[in-house]
Amino acid sequence: MEVYSEKQQIIAAIVALKAKKQTLGLVPTMGALHQGHLQLVEKALENNSKVVVTIFVNPTQFDNNSDLAKYPRTLDKDVELLKKMSKNDIIVFAPSVKDIYEGKTESKKFDFDGLEFEMEGKFRNGHFDGVGTIVKHLFDIIKPDTAYFGEKDFQQLTIIKKLVEKHHIPVKIVGCKIHREPNGLAMSSRNTRLKPEYKTAAPFIYKTLKTANQYFITKSAGKVTEWVEKQFAMNKLLKLEYFIIADVKTLKAVKRKSNKKKYRAFIAVYADDIRLIDNIALN
Ligand code: PAJ
Repeated sequence: MEVYSEKQQIIAAIVALKAKKQTLGLVPTMGALHQGHLQLVEKALENNSKVVVTIFVNPTQFDNNSDLAKYPRTLDKDVELLKKMSKNDIIVFAPSVKDIYEGKTESKKFDFDGLEFEMEGKFRNGHFDGVGTIVKHLFDIIKPDTAYFGEKDFQQLTIIKKLVEKHHIPVKIVGCKIHREPNGLAMSSRNTRLKPEYKTAAPFIYKTLKTANQYFITKSAGKVTEWVEKQFAMNKLLKLEYFIIADVKTLKAVKRKSNKKKYRAFIAVYADDIRLIDNIALN
């Protein structure tokens, strides 16, 4: 399997692939790969001749230095996992911060028509500028035909679609379902850092989302939100940061429910110092 750590090398490899008219899929990740990531790679392999998996812990999307420092980095293990999926059709790009940012580790400013100010944007300062900067840069370097993102980060997926639309980037964006542990916990690289008692407590997040989904059939968004907040107030280990029922298109909190609109419930929770996010499709 080819593993590149420099932009110039992968650019040369891509030029050669494009000359052979190979279709290219891209799966951007920050590594510490788990089944949620691998499902995106699987889908990309089904629909493209070659798949580039990028592994890069992007510093500009972190608003918290300790979270960045503690983010798991397991490149050798990640490469082994990918090798098991395909030695010939996967290309890994794992660059250094210096190679990507060329000494200027800053994000560019983006206008995502307000999507960036909701939910994660409210609680993680500058996060989506960082995501926009790295993803646009990866699209420029790799020029994929299709790129794959998880609904686990639904707001991110919506923002990437907006990025592509506003910047006229010729790439198709495919969203993939949330992959969960058997106990319902959404898979995340951060889960490996959960202490045992928090690991046991965390499936409560999805359990609560599922009940909220049931309640939303007959109750208002306000009532469901109140109920969720109460459940977390009674939970000794998990601290709710936000629970919001939002319109899937605008990501704005629903004021009055309409049968014509689609909604999702979004949640961010602290388990100790580890921030976990999840979401569920409603109606
Ligand atoms: P990361 O958290 O590593 O996730 C990489 C991709 O995997 C994202 O599209 C994410 O939504 C998806 N993913 C993660 N866990 C998932 C799960 N349990 N089920 C389905 N998909 C899942 O998201 C990022 O990295 C970064 O922001 C990135 C886009 C790479 C930019 O730096």
